[in-house]
Amino acid sequence: MKTASLKRSVFAALLLLPVLAWPHGQELKTIKLNEPNKTRGLPVMEALSVRASVREWSEKDVSFQDLSDLLWAANGINRPEIKKRTAASAQNAQDVDIYVFMKDGAYLYDALEHALVPVAAGDHRDEISMRPGSSPGGPGSAPPAKPEGPPPPQAKPAGPLSPAPIQLILVSDISRFRAGTTEVKKEWGAIDTGIVSQNIALFCAATGMATRPRASINRDLVKSLLKLTDTQYPMLNHPIGYPK
Ligand SMILES: Cc1cc2nc3c(=O)[nH]c(=O)nc-3n(C[C@H](O)[C@H](O)[C@H](O)COP(=O)(O)O)c2cc1C
Repeated sequence: MKTASLKRSVFAALLLLPVLAWPHGQELKTIKLNEPNKTRGLPVMEALSVRASVREWSEKDVSFQDLSDLLWAANGINRPEIKKRTAASAQNAQDVDIYVFMKDGAYLYDALEHALVPVAAGDHRDEISMRPGSSPGGPGSAPPAKPEGPPPPQAKPAGPLSPAPIQLILVSDISRFRAGTTEVKKEWGAIDTGIVSQNIALFCAATGMATRPRASINRDLVKSLLKLTDTQYPMLNHPIGYPK
């Protein structure tokens, strides 16, 4: 009996090994991004002329230079001597963090270092973005987002969104505002997120890349994957890639 019970324990321990060895962010490395190329892209009026939200992305991976430039344009440091950003923020709170979900894992964009800091290993792009037609999220999934309001009469019926090689999640940490009620801080967080979002949209329009701002996020899953605090709000999702 004793031998059988020992065998069962060894078997159970062996079954557990892959679970214990599963990387939880520690196997990903910090990625130093390339210096941004500040001379590329269409002039601003031409970029505004072609800005549009897309629904389909090509399967091509985003190049390292494009990702480096995109993150700098979105909310990078443009005046290092005073540590200010490409995006304005209320009270200069710099409350908007950009999380970058790629095939191998999720990273936080560190603007001061212009680097990606690993946060969670594994491919979570589909489950966090709640694309219509994508697989249901993992533990803590929120119910599917309500579809947006009825389309204007002239609009073509919208098909499902195709997968994009990169998913950005913009998170506002309202604890960085020095003053104001929680309600006002949430408003500022939303406004600041909108400014970063428009930087992303204009960068994409200017450089032949493709994006779409999306409020549809599996917030519960994002919060648990990224270990967000109660003052960090996942605000917007930006799928990123090249047009199909
Ligand atoms: C705050 C905000 C939230 C949005 N959320 C979604 C969304 O959840 N899903 C989606 O497919 N599009 C979303 N969109 C994109 C809008 O549908 C899109 O911007 C609108 O149709 C106008 O198209 P255009 O950006 O090409 O001008 C969102 C846009 C904004 C500004």
